[in-house]
Amino acid sequence: MRLRALRALLALLPRGAAGRTPGQGSRGTGQLESKTKGKLQKQICRVILDHFDKQYTAELGNAWSSVRDVLTSPLCWQHSILLNRFSPCTELENSLCVQGYHPAFQGGLPYLPAAFKCYIRRSPGRFPAQKHQAGKLKEYYLLNAASLLPVLALEVKDGENVLDLCAAPGGKSVAILQCACPGQFHCNEYDDLRARWLEETIESFIPQSLINSIMVSKLDGRHIGDLKPELYDKVLVDTPCSNDRSWLFSSDIHQATLRVIQRKELSCLQFQLLRSAIKALRPGGSLVYSTCTLSKAENSDVINLILNSCSNVMPVDISEMGRAVSQEFTFLDGLQQHELLVLPERGRAWGPMYVAKLKKI
Ligand SMILES: C[S@@+](CC[C@H](N)C(=O)[O-])C[C@H]1O[C@@H](n2cnc3c(N)ncnc32)[C@H](O)[C@@H]1O
Repeated sequence: MRLRALRALLALLPRGAAGRTPGQGSRGTGQLESKTKGKLQKQICRVILDHFDKQYTAELGNAWSSVRDVLTSPLCWQHSILLNRFSPCTELENSLCVQGYHPAFQGGLPYLPAAFKCYIRRSPGRFPAQKHQAGKLKEYYLLNAASLLPVLALEVKDGENVLDLCAAPGGKSVAILQCACPGQFHCNEYDDLRARWLEETIESFIPQSLINSIMVSKLDGRHIGDLKPELYDKVLVDTPCSNDRSWLFSSDIHQATLRVIQRKELSCLQFQLLRSAIKALRPGGSLVYSTCTLSKAENSDVINLILNSCSNVMPVDISEMGRAVSQEFTFLDGLQQHELLVLPERGRAWGPMYVAKLKKI
């Protein structure tokens, strides 16, 4: 059934449609014309853009056009610089300030460990990534600043047992370790190659003395709840999702079309991962669920289904955190108190990032 649908969809596509932006072709120019500048030369995938236009116009209304503008303009994308507290460098901080960077998360947050330092600036552009040097820890990690919100919402304290259920490449694992030293830190990644990437990230940022308290596993996260019931104080479920930013630049039309068709199945996987995370939590423990998509089906709908089907979880209000960072992030209005959706905007091009927090009772 699915194959037939795929063939029918592919038959409707013009040749080379994946790599054509709407403005190209007979007119040759247009709003979405491919941008060329070094590594930022990317082409928008028409199949995905059309699909998003339909879904997100219905779900976000007017907000979609400004989000669309950011997502389709890589030249306005920003990156934040998360400093590594295990490799402090005063010169780096001074140089960031000279270049117009400032701390991203300041006063008012319900949870903000002093050692957690992240710098951002309003103008786009990418700070150079640091090369791996044997025997030397990296000084910083580049990431979308919105990726830090799930970590801050988790509120990890020293000594707690923490599970990062879907951990590769490890950005949020590194961020958790900037906040606290868990008693046990279990980082899991199902995909073999990505699990190796996760291990490399941990080795590049975390000192040997702490690595001993970190366990990396390659399990299907859906089984961890049964394997480790009621073991963890905190669980991060940074789930596989339709990554809106990267999907828009799919270079293979067949892969893009398959992605659109199989998108519906992600909600089921996300639900199963969440259920496993709840099993793995001790009563009184809490979890944070996050995705980097705007899709309601993978965000609020999954959380609502969990809340309606699991009597042992309750929502946790994270609106105070949202208010405290509203200078730097734009959120979708109208969500419930236990959820936030970061909408990228020019000058604060963070997200998409959905965050929800639940507690096991
Ligand atoms: C959004 S990414 C995680 C990003 C990561 N938390 C970070 O901050 O760097 C989701 C990850 O889940 C992994 N994954 C997919 N299915 C999984 C499963 N059944 N169990 C555990 N991990 C899975 C994917 O391979 C992918 O690396």
